[in-house]
Amino acid sequence: MNIRENLLQMFKQAGGEFISGEEISRRLGVSRTAIWKHIEEFREEGYVFEAVRRSGYRLVFAPDVMIAEEIKVGLSTRVLGQKIYYYPSIDSTQNKCQELAKEGAPEGTLVVADQQTEGKGRLGRVWHSPPGANISMSLLLRPALELQKCPQLTLLTAVAVVETLHEFCGISAQIKWPNDILINGKKVCGILTELNAESDRIHSLIVGIGLNVNTLPEHFPEDVHGIATSLRIEKGEPLRRVPLLQQILTRLEELYDLYLAKGFAPVKKRWETYAVTIGKKVTIRTLQGSLSGYAEGIDESGVLLVRREDGSVTKVYSADVEI
Ligand code: BTN
Repeated sequence: MNIRENLLQMFKQAGGEFISGEEISRRLGVSRTAIWKHIEEFREEGYVFEAVRRSGYRLVFAPDVMIAEEIKVGLSTRVLGQKIYYYPSIDSTQNKCQELAKEGAPEGTLVVADQQTEGKGRLGRVWHSPPGANISMSLLLRPALELQKCPQLTLLTAVAVVETLHEFCGISAQIKWPNDILINGKKVCGILTELNAESDRIHSLIVGIGLNVNTLPEHFPEDVHGIATSLRIEKGEPLRRVPLLQQILTRLEELYDLYLAKGFAPVKKRWETYAVTIGKKVTIRTLQGSLSGYAEGIDESGVLLVRREDGSVTKVYSADVEI
């Protein structure tokens, strides 16, 4: 942990009590001037400290900002989120994560932003990420897997988000193939996975998650009115993003470890219990055109199997599904 992380952890552990400058200085091995500078920096980020002569400092308020230190303190993962890049505003966390991947950043590197100005959705769409409301994150994975297994990790991510929502706020969400997370039929989260491959091996995989946490109805753009929702809308109260993000990372790591050890089968089973698409008549829209049929299930690689009227089965790799 670096000094800022240690400092924040000390204040959090103190539970609102004062810690003297002398004690902080001794425990962190830095000068009191350095501590003061760090505290001033935190203040600029929205933290409120009370400073009293002879008593020291106490943390009065920690804002819901997804800065690296805030995420790191209390994070119990081994790999995911061990290296964090936070941006108050960025074009797209996917682009930044791609850049880091090319520079050789390690597996688990997390890019997170408060706002995205050019957020990317699936099939070339725009993803809206207004400031101060949502979780926009991209994770770098480097699984030693064959190329065709890549869709499995998208489905795995959807399972991790659904299970986190249930644990964190008691919400029962569903998955619309491949990876839209819905609450009461409205989209609350989108997942975008981008792949860098070398011959037939995955070189790196960028898993992007856009979760609408505190968006209010009036803040959704016109084109998604009526089809998008947020956790705040569904719960009727705002939620803190940092603990939610920490839990997504924890659950994702747990599932990723399970997947690497036991393969896709146990993840597939869980995915199927949350899927709304399976066993329904669906219309599939791809950039090439549309087709209708009965969604039979997913195969071992996560591809959607659609039975057509003539009895044949079409494999769908990437599309929009209408139920
Ligand atoms: C979709 O449903 O179309 C996928 C949306 C994915 C959005 C996330 S937000 C974080 C990451 N950065 C991006 O630019 N896109 C993904």
